[in-house]
Amino acid sequence: MADLFSLRGETALVTGGTRGIGQAVAIGLAEAGADVLLVQRSAESTETKKAVEALGRKAYIYVADLADPAAVAAIVPRALADGHTIRILVNCAGIQIRHAPEAFPDADYRAVMGVNADAVFALCRDAGAHMLGLAPSATTGRRGSIVNFASLLSFQGGLNVPAYAASKGAVVQLTKSFANSWTARGVTVNAVAPGYIATDMNEALINDTDRAASITARIPAGRWGTPDDFKGSVVYLASRAGAYVSGHTLVVDGGWMGR
Ligand SMILES: NC(=O)c1ccc[n+]([C@@H]2O[C@H](COP(=O)([O-])OP(=O)(O)OC[C@H]3O[C@@H](n4cnc5c(N)ncnc54)[C@H](OP(=O)(O)O)[C@@H]3O)[C@@H](O)[C@H]2O)c1
Repeated sequence: MADLFSLRGETALVTGGTRGIGQAVAIGLAEAGADVLLVQRSAESTETKKAVEALGRKAYIYVADLADPAAVAAIVPRALADGHTIRILVNCAGIQIRHAPEAFPDADYRAVMGVNADAVFALCRDAGAHMLGLAPSATTGRRGSIVNFASLLSFQGGLNVPAYAASKGAVVQLTKSFANSWTARGVTVNAVAPGYIATDMNEALINDTDRAASITARIPAGRWGTPDDFKGSVVYLASRAGAYVSGHTLVVDGGWMGR
């Protein structure tokens, strides 16, 4: 059973690993045996790198602002030029901007779509093209795997978050589209859709105590999720255990969607 979930010898490229869900996921991948390439805006944020190294795995920081398409386009070529073989891609970086829809500025719409959807598309394309050229991994049984972070707002419209909802709808559709072309060729593509998770992204909701309490009351698990709740789902989708799962969006929400 341990082999089924092992990522020994694999290298994962992870965005959004500086904090929140992405940090827990990067550490979870390392706990399963993977080395990690951390794509982040600043080289000064070294907490995750140190945590991965403390597990005996290797970690490398690649500085890139995912809002900048040229910087995004350079990520995979730079990692390959450094000699890395990318077996796993986790697109976890994301931003949220809230306004009433009738006053939602174009610039904020574009900013959200840029990081949450455009960068996901480009990194899937570039890392996937690389994975398709690899021999299958003895550890996972396939050439590579991609896990994209979606949201409950891939399915629901939310309130005052039209750009975010549009971007996360796009993530699910991109995931299915890439999976349709690549699964038979040895690259699985899936998404994870978190429910309400206690991270910086939800600071405004958490500080609104009435709203936070009404959300908690609706979650069958009776609590908000934590970043550590995502280690298992990502390792599952990237490992041999998830080899026959592709094009799927795995909701990890304490039961919210079933209610
Ligand atoms: N929290 C939730 O309840 C929830 C629910 C549904 C979906 N999600 C999704 O899950 C993922 C992780 O969410 P989270 O709550 O962990 O978010 P978070 O705590 O706000 O962290 C966001 C991460 O994205 C990175 N990032 C943002 N803009 C970037 C840019 N332009 N270039 C490079 N990196 C950038 C941040 O880096 P810096 O440290 O440099 O800012 C940080 O590592 C996101 O895709 C989010 O949409 C979260």
